[in-house]
Amino acid sequence: MQKIVIAIDGYSGCGKSSTAKAVALKLGYTYIDSGAMYRATTLYFLKEKVDLNNPDELQQALKKIQIAFKKNFQTGKQETYLNGMNVEDAIRSMEVSNFVSEVSKIKSVRTDLVHRQQQLGKAKGVVMDGRDIGTVVFPEAELKIFMTADLEIRAKRRQKELLEAGREVTLEEIIRNLSERDEIDSTRKESPLLRADDAVEVDTSHLNFEEQVDRIVDLANEKI
Ligand code: C5P
Repeated sequence: MQKIVIAIDGYSGCGKSSTAKAVALKLGYTYIDSGAMYRATTLYFLKEKVDLNNPDELQQALKKIQIAFKKNFQTGKQETYLNGMNVEDAIRSMEVSNFVSEVSKIKSVRTDLVHRQQQLGKAKGVVMDGRDIGTVVFPEAELKIFMTADLEIRAKRRQKELLEAGREVTLEEIIRNLSERDEIDSTRKESPLLRADDAVEVDTSHLNFEEQVDRIVDLANEKI
């Protein structure tokens, strides 16, 4: 059976990551969370107080960043490591969420991370989610999905997720964060969030989780 690349792009909080993970599991594919890479980079910049306006400092910092994904054998979940440290929780903080889209606008950051993502997906058999996967990272992906959902529905889902992880955040704060990120991600100069011409749009507002996963698995099976 031939292995394909599945690119899933869309707005913040549409359920891309959880859907992509479940699709990968069903197909026996590798899941790659490109957003986690931008988040880990943001966390490093915040911790090391990297001056984003200094191109040399930025370039040096990017060279020092190592990002890896490892499976936690107790929970079965994939977790993000930054320079050997488990940062899965830290990269989901509101501090990182409020700053990540500023970092993701920077050309040198994108060039560096897009290259890493292309290496990770080279062998195919991957599901990668993000904002520019079908347009920039894998323009030749065999299956491209563009996920959307109503803002309020997205915010409520995100609030539930955060609550389950022990974080209490108001709906207003989540709506503000999601809409600000959508705005920056869609209007930035460097690879803005765009629906690729050949992407299939999946609106998850009124689909339950199983339905959205099955929809994408069915589309993938047509290509395999
Ligand atoms: O997917 P997630 O919401 O975790 O991504 C966090 C942020 O990383 C996005 O709001 C966006 O600014 C940036 N991002 C990006 N390109 C990607 C993935 C994420 O610019 N491929």
